[in-house]
Parts: sequence; C-alpha cells; structure tokens
Amino acid sequence: MTTSRRKVLRVPLAAAAVGAGSLTATGAVALYTQSPDHNTPEPAHLRGAAPLPYAQVVAFDLASAGRRAEALRAAHDAVTAIDGGKYAAWLALGDSILAGSASRPRRLKRMPSFAGDVLDSSQSHGDLLLQITGASASGARQAAARALALLPQWRVRWRLDGNRPETRSEHGQGLARNPFHFTEGYGNPASPAGITERAIVTADQGEPSWAVGGSYQVIRIIRLATDFWDRDSVAAQERIIGRRRDGRWLDGTPSDERPVFTADALGKITPLDAHVRRAAPDRRSPPPLVRRGYNYRRGTGDQGLVFSCFQRDLEKGFEAVQARLEGEAMAKYTLTVGGGYFFVPPPGNTWLDTLAKE
Ligand code: HEM
Repeated sequence: MTTSRRKVLRVPLAAAAVGAGSLTATGAVALYTQSPDHNTPEPAHLRGAAPLPYAQVVAFDLASAGRRAEALRAAHDAVTAIDGGKYAAWLALGDSILAGSASRPRRLKRMPSFAGDVLDSSQSHGDLLLQITGASASGARQAAARALALLPQWRVRWRLDGNRPETRSEHGQGLARNPFHFTEGYGNPASPAGITERAIVTADQGEPSWAVGGSYQVIRIIRLATDFWDRDSVAAQERIIGRRRDGRWLDGTPSDERPVFTADALGKITPLDAHVRRAAPDRRSPPPLVRRGYNYRRGTGDQGLVFSCFQRDLEKGFEAVQARLEGEAMAKYTLTVGGGYFFVPPPGNTWLDTLAKE
C-alpha cells in the first residue's frame, strides 16, 4: 500500500534523482513595514493574522558570481517597491549565497533530505527566495513579473504559485483549507506576541547582530496523493490527521482547547501515529514555529502544499517536528520533492550593509 501510493506520487519525477550533492540551499531577505503604531516593526512575512490568499514563491541563483552585494541590493529595491498595501513581499537568503561569510546566521544550512524525501534539485534550495503574497492571483503574478524584470542578475531556479482556499482569520488565527479538505492553522499562536515569540530571532541567541529580528523560513514542496486520500472515509482521514476536518479534536474537545492526550495513552481515540499527535505531543509546550503555507496545483495529479514555516531556531522548530513525523500515518499519502532553508533578514538595510562590507 505504502509503496504503491508513493510510487504514484513519484511518477512525474522520473528524472529527479534524489539528494545529489550538487544542490545549493537558498535563503531569503525580507521587507518590512511599520505596523500602525509605528513602534513595532511588522515584518512582511508575518504580517496580519492570516496570510494573503495568493502567493508567488520564486527561488533564484545568482547569475554572475562576484556581484553579490549589488544583486542583493537590486532584489531588496525590487521587493521594497512591491511590499505594502495590497501586497506583502519579502526576500530570504539561502545558505549558498552566504557560503564563507563570517556573518551568516549561525543555524542556516542547506536543507537536508529527510526520511522519505525525494528531493529534485531543480526545485530545491537556491541563493535567494522571493515571496510575494497578494489578494488576487493575477495581481501577485504581475507583481512577480515586475520584480523579475528588474533582476537580470538573478536566474530563476524554481517557482510555484500558491493559494489558500477559504482563507480567514478566527480568534486571531489564520485558517485555510488544505488539499486534504482539512482546516489548517489551529496550531499557530493566536496573538502577535505569540508569533513573535516563536518566529523572531532575539539578541540572546548568539546570532550575528544584523540577523536579530529576522526569521528562519523553511519551505517544503509536498505532493499529496489526493486521489488515494479521497478514497478513504472521512472518519479514517480524521484518525490520520488527529482532528476533525473542521478542527475539533477527536475526543470532542473544541478546536481552540487542548485535548487530553494523557487520558488516551494507548491512542484509542487519537491514534499515536496521527499527524497532530506526532507534531505536538505535549499540549502545554507547542512546537516553536509558525506555519503559513499555501496549496499548489500544477497539472494533473501534481498538487499539494507549499508548506512554509517561520521560526527563530531551525533545530528546535521545524527539525524537531519533522523528526517526530517520521513514520506518521499520513506519510504514505505525501512526498516531499523540494523546498529549502532560508533566512529572512530583519527590517531595514543593516543586513545589506553588513554583507556588502565582506
Ligand atoms: C504533508 C502535508 C501536511 C498536511 C496535509 C498537514 C496538515 C495539518 C493539519 C490538518 C493540522 C491540524 C490543524 C492545525 O493545527 O493547523 C496540522 C497541524 C500541524 N502540523 Fe501539519 N500538515 C502537513 C505537514 C506538516 C509538516 C511538514 C510539519 C512540520 C514539520 C507540520 C507541522 C504541524 C504542526 C506543528 C501542527 C500543529 C499541531 C498542534 O499544535 O496541534 N505539518 N497539520
């Protein structure tokens, strides 16, 4: 069963040999504007409770070596011209653009291949990530075209269109419907302070000073076997996820309260290999990351998630959760084919000035 489902997911990837050492990781640099009180910078990548419903995610490599500072400044200017109003746009740096840099964020590295991944180098990693989000698909696409026209120094490595159906914000949480028909977003913090606490790098983390106020961004392009998934009953799907489609817990606890997993130690109600039980086993101590992903669809059978999360520490955030998800019941319906690790710089130009001096 497992093999045949994952085989189906792999078909269009015939040429995609995994893991060759030639991949380069990408990072990103972000754009920020001031929140209404003009005191707290509200970075574009975390602005608003709910992410804007459409996204353009573009990873680049530097086309001409030796011109890093100039190329980054051009990208920064292009994104600054778009960000704000109808759009939230930011950049993020890949580890490859900071190779040999004394001031690279300490935890930034190339995204490893995790158990079960089939990483395709043509859609993994990159020197720079550009993400533009907007209220309409065409608007986001046009904004991306405008940015690309200004960036001859950058070669597109991979790109994806994302969307968030039924996007909304409830009780401070941004929710959307994923391709498995489940509501996503309940595990995220419900307040700006909670988002900051999980996702913004602080001065006591031993990071270079220019990186304080930034975030690590993880992208995972995850193909979903929706046809197989849709053949299962809703009840079976809910046991795989560990929540009802509408977010309620399987023991009847409302979506915004904590279920008591300790009262179900054997997993009779919420199976021990259910997604949410693996992702967040201790309800008092939620994983320190903020998920703001999108759905994608690019042709027959190739649809899934542009999973995206922000954190202040890659190991404590994404990697700790990813390790626990190994062997989860959902694994046989999913295949990660790309993505990367990036670093979204804090608001302002300090990061550009610092890197230009190197
Ligand atoms: C493979 C595709 C995935 C699907 C379809 C999926 C779906 C879901 C759903 C439906 C929920 C419950 C609602 C919510 O809290 O948002 C959830 C929760 C969560 N997921 Fe995923 N997810 C996927 C991949 C991942 C990955 C790769 C990670 C991180 C490594 C992750 C981490 C989490 C976390 C931390 C929660 C919150 C758990 C909680 O606090 O209750 N998910 N996911």
